[in-house]
Amino acid sequence: MKKTYYITTPIYYPSGTWHLGTCYTSVVCDALARFKKMEGYDTFFLTGTDEHGQKIEKAAQADGLTNVQEYIDGKVALLKKVWELLGIKYDKFIRTTDDYHKVAVQKIFTKLYEKGDIYKSNYEGHYCRPCEAFWTESQLVDGKCPDCGRATEIEKEECYFFRLSKYQKQLEDLLNENPDFLLPVSRRNEMINNFLRPGLQDVCVSRATSKWGIEVPFDKNHIIYVWIDALTNYITALGYESSDDSLFKKYWPADLHMVGKEIVRFHALIWPALLMALDIPLPKKIFGHGWIYFGDEKMSKSKGNIVDPFVLTAKYGVDSVRYYLLRDIIFGNDTNYSLETFLSRRNAELCNGLGNLMSRTAMMIHKYFCGICPQPTTPGYFDDDLIKTANSVYDKVKNHIDQLAIHEAIAEIWKLVNRANKYIDETTPWILAKDPNSNGRLSSVLYNLAESLRLIAVLLKPFLIETPEKILASLSCTSPKLFKDAVKFGGLTPGSEVKIIDKLFDRIDIEAEIIKVKLELNMEHNESSQIDTNTKTETPAAKPLINYDEFTKMDLRAGIIKSAEAVKKSQKLLKLSVDIGYETRTIVSGIAKYYTPEELLNKCVTVIVNLTPTKLCGILSEGMLLCAQNSSGNVVLISPEKPVEGGSPIS
Ligand code: MSP
Repeated sequence: MKKTYYITTPIYYPSGTWHLGTCYTSVVCDALARFKKMEGYDTFFLTGTDEHGQKIEKAAQADGLTNVQEYIDGKVALLKKVWELLGIKYDKFIRTTDDYHKVAVQKIFTKLYEKGDIYKSNYEGHYCRPCEAFWTESQLVDGKCPDCGRATEIEKEECYFFRLSKYQKQLEDLLNENPDFLLPVSRRNEMINNFLRPGLQDVCVSRATSKWGIEVPFDKNHIIYVWIDALTNYITALGYESSDDSLFKKYWPADLHMVGKEIVRFHALIWPALLMALDIPLPKKIFGHGWIYFGDEKMSKSKGNIVDPFVLTAKYGVDSVRYYLLRDIIFGNDTNYSLETFLSRRNAELCNGLGNLMSRTAMMIHKYFCGICPQPTTPGYFDDDLIKTANSVYDKVKNHIDQLAIHEAIAEIWKLVNRANKYIDETTPWILAKDPNSNGRLSSVLYNLAESLRLIAVLLKPFLIETPEKILASLSCTSPKLFKDAVKFGGLTPGSEVKIIDKLFDRIDIEAEIIKVKLELNMEHNESSQIDTNTKTETPAAKPLINYDEFTKMDLRAGIIKSAEAVKKSQKLLKLSVDIGYETRTIVSGIAKYYTPEELLNKCVTVIVNLTPTKLCGILSEGMLLCAQNSSGNVVLISPEKPVEGGSPIS
């Protein structure tokens, strides 16, 4: 039977905006899950959303929505889009508002109550409303919440408690005797020194002041407080306490709970204690990663820092974003994100390092061997070192991944990228090509380069999404499912076609780009500085010619507008639901000055449906309506001359 690997992200609060930091845990878990899959593990990757609690209820109200579920549904849909954009391929997405989860949580709560591990009492403590956490006097830092640094309030209420103190000794043994249970070591020390040493106190696990949650089954005045509801997702998602617990039997205990550092306490103390109380085996490992900071102004866009995953991926591609998150951040440490660092890595390693290796190799195979991968016939100096590096890289990468040193794993792959680039300079194929007696040697050199690229692509598969597939396609190789079939040097078949492909990554002028981005972001946030479309426009100059293939890349379809409404906070934008045949899309269009929502209903319009989604005034727009603008600046929609069904292709 195949070995299993169960990995989880925390479940995300669907409030606020999704930014680069929120994506971090999931990108990391996705890469690890893909790596384990390629190692042959039967992998299960769980992610989801933590949808209960006052914080969510308040966020919905602040957004003007009284229907909390509707608010959450919108946020979850956006999160799933972000995951899709970043190539995050989970096996299950749990929502704590899912019925099966609610039922299982109630059963768990009752079980713990009947066992005497949950009891009712009064609680008075320092409550941090944003974090929804009670703190003791000694845990406060400068009188403020130790997690978020905000002021706390004294709150008193009747609630149910979980007997965490009962598990003090077992938890001490767990952390002391299993140094690998909680990593990095600094987090383990923190748990021991800050929480276990002063002595654990029982924790409040219900609230009487909020209604947005799962009811305590035997006391309707209380809802189950976020941590029991949230932590148990890791087992309810597998069917624990449901009629079908086959996944639970197969995958539990989890191999790895990946969490941010601020929630280590809940995962390394409360969660194991709950599992002990339920007589369920403990997860094998918890890793508390660091935080991504965004400079002084945490999320400031005007500083020229893009932190919106939609914008970042649309501008620079999914692989640049994943590469930055996985390679730049020393896994476990905090980091300070800046667009400059992001672009520098992209330029140096993706564009110059990997991109150049790909384009130089493919160009030379075209130039000297008409695009056919040559047979290696004549070994020579420098080959051994390249081949040795290539053959040892997988074991080293695997070793780093086993240690969860993800940045080191990628750095190891780049040692091969750099070695191969150096090999070009050492072997000078352009000089060999001029020497009539060196044709055999040239064949070997170019084969070795193409084969190094194949190996690099295979090893990059868990980390990047598009690039490995582009490289493999250029080498006419099928994309392997397992490492074991593909990591030995020599797998590339001589005689196969090597295609020249578009540049993997364009080089970016960093200084100019940062200025451009600053201007764009300022414009986006300052309506008055936006270009006024009502001013008289000149007929624009003709654009350069494109070929038919370029034209057909656009997926143009007829769409039927099903609903239209003004976008709050904008005088220009309308939010539309457009039926494009196979689905209904939300499209935000800047036509509010030219059409009322009512006159748009059921109108047949032209939609470009494969444009990268982008957010406008916080709404994800998944396409664009085509319009014409006349000389006085008025905008009219382009409609098929006679109405057709939504989704009809336009060509
Ligand atoms: N709902 C709880 C987790 C319950 S798990 C049983 C929660 N949600 S969260 O949305 O606030 O955070 C989800 C994850 O995103 C956490 O691991 C958190 O550390 C991570 N990040 C959110 N912002 C982050 C950064 N700026 N940097 C890195 N990761 C951070 O906590």
